[in-house]
Amino acid sequence: MNIDEAIKTRVSIRAFKPDPVPEQLVRDILDVARFAPSGGNLQPWKVIAVSGAERDAVVALAQANLPGAEDDRPVYPADLWEPYRSRRYKVGEDMYALLGIGRDNKPARFMHLAQNFQFFGAPVALFFVIDKGMGHGQWAHLGMFMQSVALAALERGVHSCMQEAWARMRIPLAQHFALPETEMIYCGMALGYADMTKPVNTLRSDRASVDEFATFKGF
Ligand SMILES: Cc1cc2nc3c(=O)[nH]c(=O)nc-3n(C[C@H](O)[C@H](O)[C@H](O)COP(=O)(O)O)c2cc1C
Repeated sequence: MNIDEAIKTRVSIRAFKPDPVPEQLVRDILDVARFAPSGGNLQPWKVIAVSGAERDAVVALAQANLPGAEDDRPVYPADLWEPYRSRRYKVGEDMYALLGIGRDNKPARFMHLAQNFQFFGAPVALFFVIDKGMGHGQWAHLGMFMQSVALAALERGVHSCMQEAWARMRIPLAQHFALPETEMIYCGMALGYADMTKPVNTLRSDRASVDEFATFKGF
């Protein structure tokens, strides 16, 4: 797969088949992703990969802690403004339309959100860990690493969904994994094989055009 194709065809998968992803394949993916760049080459990331009983234990932990709670690093700024507010709204509505869940069906929407905490059925999950002392630069570099993981996975036919939903479970997860006080979980990522019989996996989210976000000077 060439790079353009990989970037354009990676999508968030929200219904996985139970087929296992072997440890060696996960290792191969991380072995590519570790070449992601980072300022000062800090490589400010750690990964916890779970499968089998360890994955199930995390799912059980989440069920016992639903709906979780945000900490002092919320996923979105409060009172999101335009155009971000509308973009977030649109992708949510497009997803619920594919799931056949209406705007007023709050219980069904909650049930779908709760699917995050079962990794949408994926057999493997990654948790991305960062030192609490790191600043916004290093968080950005962790993001580059995560995209590299998703692309290296795709190259091997493995699909993914990044999951900031797990930010709501940071405290129980930190205890569960016995993280040192200096470290925190940023985000999760479900890894597995897409169940393409599920309409939710046909979601293709919009993107702004280049002219909407780029300014060209001096060409
Ligand atoms: C860091 C990050 C965290 C995300 N967290 C979640 C999540 O918790 N649950 C979810 O369903 N999607 C999550 N997403 C998926 C986004 O909604 C998705 O990337 C966006 O709508 C664009 O769609 P695409 O990934 O299919 O291109 C996350 C994406 C990123 C980059």
